[in-house]
Amino acid sequence: MGVVDKQFSVAGNVAEAFAIASLRDEAALQGLPRLDAELLLVRATGRSRTHLGAFDEQPLSAAQMQVFRALVQRRLSGEPLAYIDGRKEFWSLELLVTPDVLVPRPETELLVERCLALLTGPHSRIADLGTGSGAIALALAHERPSWTVVATDASAKALAVAGHNAQRLGLEHIDFRLGDWCQALADDRFDAIVSNPPYIAPDDAALVALTQEPAGALVAQSGGLADLLDIIEAAPAHLNSGGHLLLEHGCTQGPDVAGALVARGYARVVCRPDLAGLDRVTEAVWP
Ligand SMILES: C[S@@+](CC[C@H](N)C(=O)[O-])C[C@H]1O[C@@H](n2cnc3c(N)ncnc32)[C@H](O)[C@@H]1O
Repeated sequence: MGVVDKQFSVAGNVAEAFAIASLRDEAALQGLPRLDAELLLVRATGRSRTHLGAFDEQPLSAAQMQVFRALVQRRLSGEPLAYIDGRKEFWSLELLVTPDVLVPRPETELLVERCLALLTGPHSRIADLGTGSGAIALALAHERPSWTVVATDASAKALAVAGHNAQRLGLEHIDFRLGDWCQALADDRFDAIVSNPPYIAPDDAALVALTQEPAGALVAQSGGLADLLDIIEAAPAHLNSGGHLLLEHGCTQGPDVAGALVARGYARVVCRPDLAGLDRVTEAVWP
């Protein structure tokens, strides 16, 4: 039983709610960070963060306190905040997320940035392979409404989430396709193919902290490289001459990915660091 279950279901106030969230739990090393607690209290009460922050003494009903405690317990048990909250911001777009999709990460915005920097034409054709929540495809379609954007995934459940996000954001012109990597592209060719595929090795210790997200979005064979290598091999048949391939990968995989791109015949192979200075994206041109 977690510490939040031990409280009585009684009315309280905002200060008491934050105090509960900051308590150490048996299953967690520490209580919740203030930001997590604030977002969960927003969800439990329907009030805005500004309103809740205005004064600590504002009362909360017994029902609100109970809902809040249950949310805190879920978070302390390791459930990502984005799944509890049901949404996550990516590229300033609010995306709905469920346990069927990877929670979009801020470092993936580098792929969007690089794609926008490399393609300057008004009518570029782009494919986002393994779109998950639709994060990359939606950001590109939002920034460049005149581009043709195809988004694929091997998971029908993920595509349903991505399609729902496209509808909510008014970006319904994205062409969503179910299928395995480049096979979903049929005979089509693109000016850029972007992908953030699974790249964590099955025995990587980092997976212990990621058990709530779909394994199919995270884990790849061959030391995490299998899906990256599949895409590198097959993408040339779907790139226009001078087309770009942009791949997100693990921070130690840059040399392997760059080596595979050079070996396959791509040109202008460059690794790009993320904001933390770690190799995160490798881009290349199909001559
Ligand atoms: C790391 S997640 C990336 C999700 C999203 N693009 C993002 O950046 O947040 C990888 C995605 O690839 C999809 N995927 C896994 N294997 C695939 C395959 N063989 N073909 C197409 N998509 C695949 C997963 O379902 C998942 O949505």
